[in-house]
Amino acid sequence: GLTGLALSVPVLSGCGRGPTRGHTLRFDTEAFEELTDTIATAGGDRSVTYRFYRAIPYVAKPVDVACQSLNISVPVAIDAVPVDASRAPILFANSVGGYLPSSTVKATGVGAGGMTGMPGMGAMPPGDPPPDAMAQVGSGGNAMISRAGRMVNNARLALAAGNVVVEPGARGRTLRNDEGAYYGVAPAAIVDLKAAVRYLRANRHKVPGNMDRIVSSGTSAGGALSALLGASADDTLYDEALAAVGAADASDAVFAAAAWCPITDLDHADMAYEWNWGDNPLATGGLVDPLESAQLAGAFAGYQASLGLHGEGVAALTAETLGPYLVESYLQPAADRYLASLPAAERATYLFTHSFIRYVDRRSGFSWADFRAHVGARRKSLPAFDAFDLSAPENNLFGLGKTKARHFTTYSLRKASGDPTAVLDADLPRTLEQMNPMPFLLEGNRARAKHWWLRVGTRDTDTSLSVLANLAAVAAARGDDVDAAMYWDAGHGANEDADDFIAWISRIAD
Ligand code: DHB
Repeated sequence: GLTGLALSVPVLSGCGRGPTRGHTLRFDTEAFEELTDTIATAGGDRSVTYRFYRAIPYVAKPVDVACQSLNISVPVAIDAVPVDASRAPILFANSVGGYLPSSTVKATGVGAGGMTGMPGMGAMPPGDPPPDAMAQVGSGGNAMISRAGRMVNNARLALAAGNVVVEPGARGRTLRNDEGAYYGVAPAAIVDLKAAVRYLRANRHKVPGNMDRIVSSGTSAGGALSALLGASADDTLYDEALAAVGAADASDAVFAAAAWCPITDLDHADMAYEWNWGDNPLATGGLVDPLESAQLAGAFAGYQASLGLHGEGVAALTAETLGPYLVESYLQPAADRYLASLPAAERATYLFTHSFIRYVDRRSGFSWADFRAHVGARRKSLPAFDAFDLSAPENNLFGLGKTKARHFTTYSLRKASGDPTAVLDADLPRTLEQMNPMPFLLEGNRARAKHWWLRVGTRDTDTSLSVLANLAAVAAARGDDVDAAMYWDAGHGANEDADDFIAWISRIAD
């Protein structure tokens, strides 16, 4: 789920329709190759020997078998010490980015083909890629960006810690068949991920690992899908679509859901974006239309109030309280962790250059407005997700049939059409619900994941920071175990505590 990274990564495999023969959904325990990989961990390099099961179709009636397949990696020895992963937790690591098609069928090992070792995979170039860069790639892989600007890969780290790793592909928004129909638009990707989990459970006596300890993970669009997988578990809303692809008859519930910078709650993302970044200048200079920005931010206030959420021991989370709440619960702690990690001289320099932090007297710490000014330019124009000209990736995500892109918010539809009474296409409310984790959490879906790991960088202006805070707050309100935090000054795709995440898997799975 990493648009920036994708620029420098060779495309391992686009999807594209394979032969449309049926598949048995029976896991062949002998169909593996044994590989040995050196994986760099915080504790030093680990030599990991593992069984690699590649390109296993997970639906009986695939429409695109290159996407609707998964890889399984099972550790058998770590630094020559045998490991038994038959009851180990399973990291279910999707590699979706940009809501694009993803495939791992051509990967030559865990973590999307050992991408970490490839030439040209050094530090990320500063700044974000152009918005359309994500349209050029087919697979984000499972690599992310550490604080030091190096690549980290949850899938590889999880394997080196003795976990089973499953890497599913999924259909994505750009796929088109011979008739010109878009067959990977919403809700295809979540249907596929659910089908992949169902495949694992249907083969629970053959696939190694503990099916009661599946931990889903993903970044950005993949983070959105991971959260959605956790929230919407076993809901009947997907039954028809699952039947259509021939998904196995089993539960798609996961034990835990981890999401980095999830691009989710899309129906309200334009409002949330203007509430958060509305006053920030565009990267190109200039401001968005202040009236439109105020209209959307105003609508966000209504939405936020409707959620009925509370912070930890705090008053209601409204459009007014949410900013100070973000500072108190996420931003100041993130700044503190960052500053504490710096050598004294660098800390002094940082504080001198960013005097708004006033670290020596924390109680007079920074305001929500100070913080937004610190971040500076917003990455997206207005509306951030449902573009008036239908050019946003999300317009394509909500395409249908031969229609590549559609409006999915009433606001943009009415503005763009000039018709103040226009209504969304009749199929959209249901599709939007299928793509949004919030309603499932608000209604307290009993089969949902009960453990949540949520992370985003404070400089990530791909979406509003309220998206992550609301996800965390609603899961906590349902009584779930929530580990939510932000990375100070980090951008889109950051993963600055990968080792903590791997330790978290072991802890919750115990
Ligand atoms: C991603 C980023 C976006 O800004 C967006 O709108 C959708 C997806 C991504 O990186 O996956």
